[in-house]
Amino acid sequence: MKKTQFISMLGAKDEVESSFLVKYIAVATGKDGKSYLNLILTDNSGEIESRKWQEAEMVAGKIKAGDFVVVSGKVNAFQGRLQLIVDKVTKLNEGQYEPEDFIKKSNSAPEKMFDELVSIVNSLEEIYIKDLLLLILNEYEIKRRLMLWQAGKSIHHAYQSGLLEHILSCTKLANILSVHYQVNRSYVVAGCILHDLCKIYELTEGPNVDYTEEGKLIGHLVKGLEVVDHYAQKIKNFPYQQKMHIKHILLSHHGEYEYGSPKIPHTSEAYLVHLIDLMDSKMSSMDQVKKTDNSTGYWSGMIKHLDRVVYKNELPSFTNYQDDNVERSEKSENAKTNKSDPKDLKQTLGSKLKDFKVD
Ligand SMILES: [Fe+2]
Ligand SMILES: [Fe+2]
Repeated sequence: MKKTQFISMLGAKDEVESSFLVKYIAVATGKDGKSYLNLILTDNSGEIESRKWQEAEMVAGKIKAGDFVVVSGKVNAFQGRLQLIVDKVTKLNEGQYEPEDFIKKSNSAPEKMFDELVSIVNSLEEIYIKDLLLLILNEYEIKRRLMLWQAGKSIHHAYQSGLLEHILSCTKLANILSVHYQVNRSYVVAGCILHDLCKIYELTEGPNVDYTEEGKLIGHLVKGLEVVDHYAQKIKNFPYQQKMHIKHILLSHHGEYEYGSPKIPHTSEAYLVHLIDLMDSKMSSMDQVKKTDNSTGYWSGMIKHLDRVVYKNELPSFTNYQDDNVERSEKSENAKTNKSDPKDLKQTLGSKLKDFKVD
């Protein structure tokens, strides 16, 4: 069926008749003891929490996460968030849906991003590091996966080619910031390219991404060392000290022991890679919240991994001076509507905080 209703277009009270990909499905029990179906439905524009109040067990027996379904129902605003109340849900078979409608992709073409990455590598001064990176990036399977893989299950760059987008974005920052802070650019670029590269072994292919066995048992930090060892030994006389410092950057890029780093960054280059990685992942998360959060109004719900609610509206912009009359009329307008009353702002935030939920 041709999909015409996408999640990002939905608003409260909308009638829905559309296909979705099931990201999560489970039977839950309400306060009244009755069971209901808890679903997260997705498409390439976002995701929406959904509930089905009747026939929960029966539907859960037929539909699982990863299935494509057609749903009829109505959008409800509940505690400031949009929720889809499902009336009917039916599983679709292959051929009854267009996979493209459900696969969220990076806005940039992977081939273009890959070429840009290689051109930065070609500009590096350190010859062994340059050779190592080119050898790794041009390996057939690594390149194939890098073009497609997501950077994570859901936190940041969680869409097709998101890993490459994150790596390229970090590498471009490395190019600028290593010069600004006068540290060795080749190490910072290598760190940015290699730090998360082994997510191609840690995670399965999208759109329903999960951890692989190797991801659960070894993880991308330690797997990164294996890859560096494997390719460095193909390069004659690869300097041991240089390899050790690249490995240190990979091992320490999560920055803190509690975030899975067996070492904290001890060199300026390693610290910079960690900070760039942090900055890029957080800014990407902010962007995604603004694009996909389906709370009503300007504020997002509580975003667990950012540990805050996010203001989703554009900030006020003035590229021309306002004349006195406009400012005065705006002030009186605000006074009328109490827009800028701190008490009111407190109340709005208060009700938001009351709704903070970790899910
Ligand atoms: Fe990482
Ligand atoms: Fe990263």
